Formats: sequence, C-alpha cells, structure tokens
Amino acid sequence: MMNKTALITGASGGIGLDLAELHASKGGDLVLIARSIEKLEEIKTKFEQQYKVRVHVIGKDLSEPRSAREIYDELKEKRISVDYLINNAGFGVFGMFAETDWEKELQMINLNITSLTHLTKLFIGDMIRNGEVR
Ligand SMILES: NC(=O)c1ccc[n+]([C@@H]2O[C@H](COP(=O)([O-])OP(=O)(O)OC[C@H]3O[C@@H](n4cnc5c(N)ncnc54)[C@H](OP(=O)(O)O)[C@@H]3O)[C@@H](O)[C@H]2O)c1
Repeated sequence: MMNKTALITGASGGIGLDLAELHASKGGDLVLIARSIEKLEEIKTKFEQQYKVRVHVIGKDLSEPRSAREIYDELKEKRISVDYLINNAGFGVFGMFAETDWEKELQMINLNITSLTHLTKLFIGDMIRNGEVR
C-alpha cells in the first residue's frame, strides 16, 4: 500500500475510519470524505504524525447530487490521484414504507446509490489507465 492513495467516503467514524487507519498503518496515503470536517481534520493530524502518510480531507455532503463531481474536480486540480476507491458512506431508513419520510429516503438514495455510482464512474477511467483496474 506504500505510495497508494485510497479515497474513503464516510471516514469520520465507524467502519470508514477503521479502514482508513488500516491503510495508513501500512503506509498508504488517504483522501477522506465526510460531512464533519472538524473530525476529519483531527484524523488527518493524528494519521500524518503517527503513520507519516499524506492525508487530504474534504468536507462534503454526498447526498448532494453534485458532490461526486466536486470531489473529482478538486482532486484533479490538486493533482492528487486515487488508486483505490472505498464507497463506504451510507445509511438506511427503517420503518413502514407508507410512513417513512421521503426527503430522508431521497438523501439515502442520493448517498447510497447516486454518489456511489457517480464516484465510481468518475474514478474508474483513471484507475484503468494506472493499471489498478482491468
Ligand atoms: N455497521 C453495520 O452493522 C452495517 C451493516 C450493514 C451495512 N453497513 C454500511 O456500512 C457503511 C459504514 O457503516 P458504519 O456503521 O461505519 O456507519 P456510521 O458509523 O454511521 O458512519 C457513517 C459514515 O458515513 C458518513 N456519512 C453519513 N452520511 C453522509 C453524507 N450524506 N455525506 C458524506 N458522508 C456521510 C458519516 O460521517 P458524517 O456524519 O461526518 O458525514 C460517517 O463517517 C454504511 O454504508 C452502512 O450503511 C453497516
């Protein structure tokens, strides 16, 4: 994982944070995405000191339909290339379908499906060119 950069969504806590630490502990650089930018900044400081890796953080709400494009464009502009994409961020709405809140469900669909698919679509071409995906 040395010199490989993993982009992990939902990296401010839970499984995403554990995956980020695992990658960093093996010498891999990171791009971390979540809404809580303060938490991400703390993680960046800790991992950069502890593991001597580079960590780039982006505060972004992935339930916003333009978010995937904005992330991709920011990384291109900063010349940060991504080797691995871990689409971890997500949540579930529970309850009787007739009674659950549509706005919450729309956020869930945008996060779990639209942004996940768009991020994959945007990054996969670069990964094929870099030999990470065939
Ligand atoms: N834990 C389980 O037993 C389990 C079971 C099945 C599936 N999963 C799936 O596995 C993934 C991780 O689970 P987890 O338990 O680690 O979840 P979690 O503890 O709730 O963490 C979710 C992460 O996603 C981020 N996130 C949530 N909404 C977001 C949004 N709109 N935009 C950007 N980031 C967002 C959160 O950060 P912010 O709040 O800072 O944005 C957080 O970093 C999820 O997709 C979950 O659905 C988990």
